[in-house]
Amino acid sequence: MLLHINDLLTPEEVHRARAILAVAPWQDGRATSGEQAALAKNNEQLPEGCEEARLLQELVLRGLERHEVFFSASLPRQVSPPLFNRYGGATNTFGNHVDSAVRFLRNGAGRVRTDISCTLFLADPDEYDGGELVVEDTYGDKRVKLPAGDLVLYPGTSVHRVEPVTRGHRLACFFWIQSMVRSDEQRRLLFDMDMHLRRLRSGAGDADPAVVGLTGTYHNLLRMWVDT
Ligand code: NI
Repeated sequence: MLLHINDLLTPEEVHRARAILAVAPWQDGRATSGEQAALAKNNEQLPEGCEEARLLQELVLRGLERHEVFFSASLPRQVSPPLFNRYGGATNTFGNHVDSAVRFLRNGAGRVRTDISCTLFLADPDEYDGGELVVEDTYGDKRVKLPAGDLVLYPGTSVHRVEPVTRGHRLACFFWIQSMVRSDEQRRLLFDMDMHLRRLRSGAGDADPAVVGLTGTYHNLLRMWVDT
């Protein structure tokens, strides 16, 4: 499932993130890729341990924690520490690749299976040309270029790329999620059901017997598939 989530960050948070990124110590993006991905990768990235990255990580994680649609869609068990990248000038693209299946956290802090790949856009579409995230899907290529503060989730199994940026700079945050529900298909069903249930609840009310019954079915399906 490829899903666009609106307004993960408020305009004020985007503004704050941009102020931090403007003075951050960018480095070659190949520092964090697997071998195949490093060949395709030509961008800049913030060093994982720098103070700017730490401040930005807090800001993004707060946004994730309060967003109900994000939680329902991803059912996160573990979120890898968000990373930050920049495309523009001579370092402006990332060719076709699949993300590594397992992300090893710094300082032996554990591992995250990359069930879901996430990109949070931090520059608005009119600030740069090119730079679309292209995700190859069974239904064809999906081209994604979202307003600053919006997030896209897509399966970690997808072949994807970032098109060359030919004007301006594309700033983004990226991270991976190990979900409590490993299967993309099962997660999709649960998400659809939850969204329909929310609509039903807002019309019929929480006490409606069908709402109570279907909420039970949602949780029983989740219980069957979840891995906590
Ligand atoms: Ni990637």
